[in-house]
Amino acid sequence: MRPTLDASPLATPLPLVSPVFIDPVAAPAAPVSSGTPASTVRHTGALPRVLFVDQSGQLGGAEFALLQLAEHCRSHSEVVLLSDGPFRTRLEALGARVQVINDASVSGIARQASALNCLRVLPGIVRQVRALAARARAFDVLFVNTQKALVLGALGKALYRKPVIWYQHDILTREHFGRVQLSVIKWAVRLAVDHVVVNSQASARSLAALTGLAADSVPVVYNGIDASAFDRVDGTDIGSLRQRLGLPEHAWLAGLFGRLAPWKGQHIALDALARLPDAHLVLVGAPLFGEDAYAQRLRDQAAALGIAERVHFAGFQDDVPTWMKAMNVILHTSTEPEPFGRVIVEGMAAGRPVIAAAAGGVTEIVRHGRNGWLVKPGDAAALAEAIAVLRTDPALAQRLAQQALIDARAEFSVERYLERMIDELTAAMQRPGDRTNTQASR
Ligand code: UDP
Ligand code: GLC
Repeated sequence: MRPTLDASPLATPLPLVSPVFIDPVAAPAAPVSSGTPASTVRHTGALPRVLFVDQSGQLGGAEFALLQLAEHCRSHSEVVLLSDGPFRTRLEALGARVQVINDASVSGIARQASALNCLRVLPGIVRQVRALAARARAFDVLFVNTQKALVLGALGKALYRKPVIWYQHDILTREHFGRVQLSVIKWAVRLAVDHVVVNSQASARSLAALTGLAADSVPVVYNGIDASAFDRVDGTDIGSLRQRLGLPEHAWLAGLFGRLAPWKGQHIALDALARLPDAHLVLVGAPLFGEDAYAQRLRDQAAALGIAERVHFAGFQDDVPTWMKAMNVILHTSTEPEPFGRVIVEGMAAGRPVIAAAAGGVTEIVRHGRNGWLVKPGDAAALAEAIAVLRTDPALAQRLAQQALIDARAEFSVERYLERMIDELTAAMQRPGDRTNTQASR
């Protein structure tokens, strides 16, 4: 059911200048959780037994998407991780069975690795392929959630002979991947994947350009965000919320959520902040995949710009809903096309105005001037101007945030995500060997 405006926490105007938010829903703060009751997700027929595979032990967007699905399917599935980390702990806490099939040499391969490097890790790859294939025999479907999982699943397919479904979370272009990786992905899809599902039309277009598949033959399943986790945050007293988080109570706060990585564009937000005399920037997230040098560069940049006291490095936080509700505006600043961008939908679900970089899947979520504000990627001046516009026009900011809340709940719910994904899993199981959408014109 679509929420009415009156029922929305934004029915009371969002005072963007003086940071006091009125939010009638009072309940304890909760982390972004996958907590969708199984009973609310409609599907018919038997659920396939699924072996999920993900290369990461860290909590990135692809892993949050898998967390929800693995929790929903936990009674008849298992998750294989190719490296250990907090993702395993989160999966296990939700009742998922997890196996870590790790090989240090393979974990080290970078997205831009050369062919020679790939050869060096061959023995480790063979070990992982065999271990994965041995697990896969006990399941109906292999669901690969990342590129390395895709490649290992593809290499061992002759050993387990089960349908392979790939949830493609990335835009497959040279901005994001090395030439070798793209070529390996192309052949893995052509030779071994039965069914591809993508997280946005933008990701589908990149797959089509790489493999020659028709973009419209690939089902788009958008990520789902648990809006109730945001509703549970009591934002009535924004001051005490900020106090609890150690944030300045009376400052005007822009929040940027996501791992610290050059293409996520935190440096653009710092440049924009330097053009805005008294706003503050809160960076929530950590360098998850070895980008520590970039994290240090951001601190140096803030110091060099003379804005260090207005920039708050919060590190990785589990309780994203509370942190988002403590902000006046949510920024998204990726300099390369964002494949989807969970943080954008989360900002919308938090009932905050979102300013996002207009490229990739973002334009499938944000409609400029309707449910958010789009800016040119990498343009600090445009970002500063957009922040200034929303700050000086609270009525506009409130209108955008209201529509955003409605759209997040209607278009990007966890229920819809799970229903769509289970349909795709069932289709992959019912048509084994059919190669449903991976055999189009070449
Ligand atoms: N996130 C989090 N804590 C943090 C920073 C980010 O839990 O400190 C979550 C965020 O809420 C989102 C995910 O990490 O669900 C990032 O996903 P997104 O699709 O935005 O980007 P990705 O990192 O996958 O490219
Ligand atoms: C990837 C993408 C991100 C997307 C997430 C979930 O990590 O970078 O844009 O939101 O997957 O699909």
